[in-house]
Amino acid sequence: MTSPHLHDTAGLPDYRAQAPAVAERFRRLRERPVVLEVDRLGREFSGEHGMVTALREVSFSVHRREFVCVIGPSGCGKSTLIRMVAGLDHPTSGRMLLDGREVAGPGPDRGMVFQGYTLFPWLTVTQNVMFGLEMQRVDRGTAEARAREWIDLVGLGKFAKHYPAQLSGGMKQRTAIARALAANPRILLMDEPFGALDAQTRAQMQTHLMEIWRNVDVTILFITHDLDEAILLADRILVLKANPGEVQELIEVPVPRPRSLAQVTSPEFLATRRRLDELIHPPAAAHEGEPEKLPIVRLTQVGDDVE
Ligand SMILES: Nc1ncnc2c1ncn2[C@@H]1O[C@H](COP(=O)(O)OP(=O)(O)OP(=O)(O)O)[C@@H](O)[C@H]1O
Ligand SMILES: [Mg+2]
Repeated sequence: MTSPHLHDTAGLPDYRAQAPAVAERFRRLRERPVVLEVDRLGREFSGEHGMVTALREVSFSVHRREFVCVIGPSGCGKSTLIRMVAGLDHPTSGRMLLDGREVAGPGPDRGMVFQGYTLFPWLTVTQNVMFGLEMQRVDRGTAEARAREWIDLVGLGKFAKHYPAQLSGGMKQRTAIARALAANPRILLMDEPFGALDAQTRAQMQTHLMEIWRNVDVTILFITHDLDEAILLADRILVLKANPGEVQELIEVPVPRPRSLAQVTSPEFLATRRRLDELIHPPAAAHEGEPEKLPIVRLTQVGDDVE
């Protein structure tokens, strides 16, 4: 039981209150080695109207087998952050260390699953999953066997010979996850991987990803702008603010594991949700005048009686 002073008037616990088992889990998590260390990372872009600071002084670390979600308003630099960790973009200040080594360009130690379907359309599911392994010069037989295992693990055994065009959106993302994990990365980088899926498929994929993560020794950095998705999946949530993109808070999610969708109405979940709402949609923003009016003009003449 949490003590009464940790509850507010609405009856929700403080989002920082942790049941003993949850606190113990975080204590052990902090003892695990750091896989990714982001140290005062900054990124500026030269835009039409001068320099844009996409990220400023962003620091955090991710421990082995930790699941960290990054949330924040559109344009706060989430994709810029993950692209830099992937080695696809370079910081203008600060640095990132992966297993203690500075990140300088892409590498097989990072697996990526981004929102757009990035499968090769001319390759089957198996060939797509084998692709990265063959790039690493794993011999064909081994690559095929390993691809098979991962395809089974993501539940696509029956679709191994299908082409991407024959798959649903969820199946394509499962293939992308299998492909990323088959290469045995140290960290899996996911940028809104379920953003294009319908609500039901998205919920299935969340459950599925948690199941995979429980069974695989992999660390995950996952970007989303869905607050509930972040709470459901993450050990910790890195909350960024926009203009410039800076860390607002790094929240330890107090919801016990194993997680399920049934927990979305639990007091811990709701307390965390309320905190994220405060950070992402501060009440002050509601008083900043009328919502922007769209410049819509009437294109057809209608009679007055239509109004
Ligand atoms: N290549 C680029 N050149 C110039 N500006 C850029 C570039 N990439 C990103 N930016 C700017 O950096 C800021 C952060 O962009 P980013 O795409 O990282 O945001 P985001 O948090 O991923 O947004 P969203 O939630 O909409 O995906 C934005 O102001 C964007 O316009
Ligand atoms: Mg983005």
